[in-house]
Amino acid sequence: VLPLFVHHQQADAAIAAMPGCSRQSIERTVATAREAFELGIPAVALFPALTAAEKSPTAIESMNPDGLLPRCVQALKRALPELVVITDVALDPYSTDGHDGLVEAGQIVNDPTLPILAAMAVTQARAGADVVAPSDMMDGRVRAIREALDAAGFTEVGILSYCVKYASAFYGPFRDALDSAPRFGDKKTYQMDPANVREALREAALDEAEGADALMVKPGLPYLDVIRAVREATNLPIAAYHVSGEFAMLKAAAERGWIDYDRCLLESLLACKRAGADFIFTYGALDAARLLKTSRNG
Ligand code: PBG
Repeated sequence: VLPLFVHHQQADAAIAAMPGCSRQSIERTVATAREAFELGIPAVALFPALTAAEKSPTAIESMNPDGLLPRCVQALKRALPELVVITDVALDPYSTDGHDGLVEAGQIVNDPTLPILAAMAVTQARAGADVVAPSDMMDGRVRAIREALDAAGFTEVGILSYCVKYASAFYGPFRDALDSAPRFGDKKTYQMDPANVREALREAALDEAEGADALMVKPGLPYLDVIRAVREATNLPIAAYHVSGEFAMLKAAAERGWIDYDRCLLESLLACKRAGADFIFTYGALDAARLLKTSRNG
């Protein structure tokens, strides 16, 4: 799965985006997705990079059917009907607080966030998303989203739950790309403690019971033991997210000539598969697909 950051214009020079994490216009996003699809990458994961004016405390822009993300989904499905389009469900790209949930009196409030997430998911489904992927880590959101999708007639739209998501330091380049870093505090009240593995199994059981179609473990490489533990606890498909900071380490080390990028990228993805991931979100998807194609042909 190739993550893509859609923006109103092409990347502005002020943002020193890491390779693979740059913002692209809708037109460019469609062109990149086409390239990916032709290389055999079956799915993209879309994230909107919004202007400050589009952000608000209640993330109301996330329900705008004519917003940047729904327009991009429509353009992708029109151009590439067979491409699986996965959309992210969380408040952070739309929120002036940069948190994944609603903020009240300096606290991230779980239950009042659920209807916003559900409305966001329905907006994305209406635009044509095949799979919605809640990455917010509020409790009970998979059920709330499932019920809202079904009530709106989107029984066929799947839910990929970012089920086991750690409060990790590896999300930096992603937050730079979306300008979505938390404006106060951190995400530790809703994302998981990196030292905790048993909670992963509880989260997996809850999301499965709430109706998730697939589960994600995130980040990837530093959490291979967690991927393995979740693999053994569920029969649902498992995604690993090889996140922006993990990819940044490969890129930066390769730029300095310290590692062989191609081989380290493929080895990283192989390790996620070996641990039990069925599919992988990675900024190296295009590179990996090209490498695998060459090795098959050669
Ligand atoms: C936010 C979200 C994040 C990522 C995916 N969805 C960042 C965060 O939780 O702060 C990170 C992905 C990456 O680093 O590549 N809902």
